Amino acid sequence: MRFVGRVAIVTGGCGGIGLATARRLASEGARVLIADLTDLGELRAEAARDEGLQIHYQRANVASDEEVAQLVRATTERWGRLDVMVANAGIAGKGTAESTSVEAWRRVLDVNLTGVFLCIKHSVPAIRAAGGGAIVATASVTGCVGHPGALAYASTKGALINMVRAAALDQARDNIRITAVCPGHLENPTAAGGAEARAAHTGGLVARYPLGRLGRADDVASAIAFLASEEASFITGTSLVIDGGYSAQ
Ligand SMILES: NC(=O)c1ccc[n+]([C@@H]2O[C@H](COP(=O)([O-])OP(=O)(O)OC[C@H]3O[C@@H](n4cnc5c(N)ncnc54)[C@H](O)[C@@H]3O)[C@@H](O)[C@H]2O)c1
Repeated sequence: MRFVGRVAIVTGGCGGIGLATARRLASEGARVLIADLTDLGELRAEAARDEGLQIHYQRANVASDEEVAQLVRATTERWGRLDVMVANAGIAGKGTAESTSVEAWRRVLDVNLTGVFLCIKHSVPAIRAAGGGAIVATASVTGCVGHPGALAYASTKGALINMVRAAALDQARDNIRITAVCPGHLENPTAAGGAEARAAHTGGLVARYPLGRLGRADDVASAIAFLASEEASFITGTSLVIDGGYSAQ
């Protein structure tokens, strides 16, 4: 019960990793606001509350300055504080430099990079007011090593790894720790893992994972919960790779 009395926001909270993370934090005592763009959000939150988990939903586009500001306001108005921000929302972006349109490039940057910047920007004052806390961003192993055909996505995830270093230095004296997780390809692919992870099952990518399987949302959720918890109180500015050894080769 590492999060009793704590309040968290999880963006992309209706997706695979986001919902698993929200449920993990709530099962350890947190009150959690999941933010997403999907109409399923209310249903997901209600189902969680039926199980006794304190999860509520707010529609918010992480690429919108005003909507992220409002998300943080809504959380502090509802529960009086904010301790943890999980900046997890992200979209896939396929294509090489040649095949990626400028519009597609900007769309991926808006969500994956500007979205995390806005989550940090607007949550810092609220977390500082609570006496400190943690921000965890979801990057990707694709931000640590090159990956063919995912130029925009890989660019954003690589930039996130350095964003958390820079932001961690800026907010260290506020007692706000800022870290990232870098998941490998997940089983049960969802929109962001998408076609690539589905193809991985048939295309033999699993064989390139030393632990012999792809990741699960819960593998990532437990790492995010660790980084967000007091157990990680001396960890900031770093990224934790959760990839079954994929990038160790
Ligand atoms: N699935 C994988 O294999 C994998 C691997 C490495 C990293 N990741 C990263 O993990 C994060 C979560 O991905 P996932 O696998 O759970 O995928 P997912 O598609 O299940 O979840 C992403 C969620 O983000 C939401 N979202 C998209 N754009 C948004 C926006 N502008 N504002 C608010 N919400 C928005 C979507 O509606 C969705 O519910 C992403 O950042 C993704 O890049 C995923």
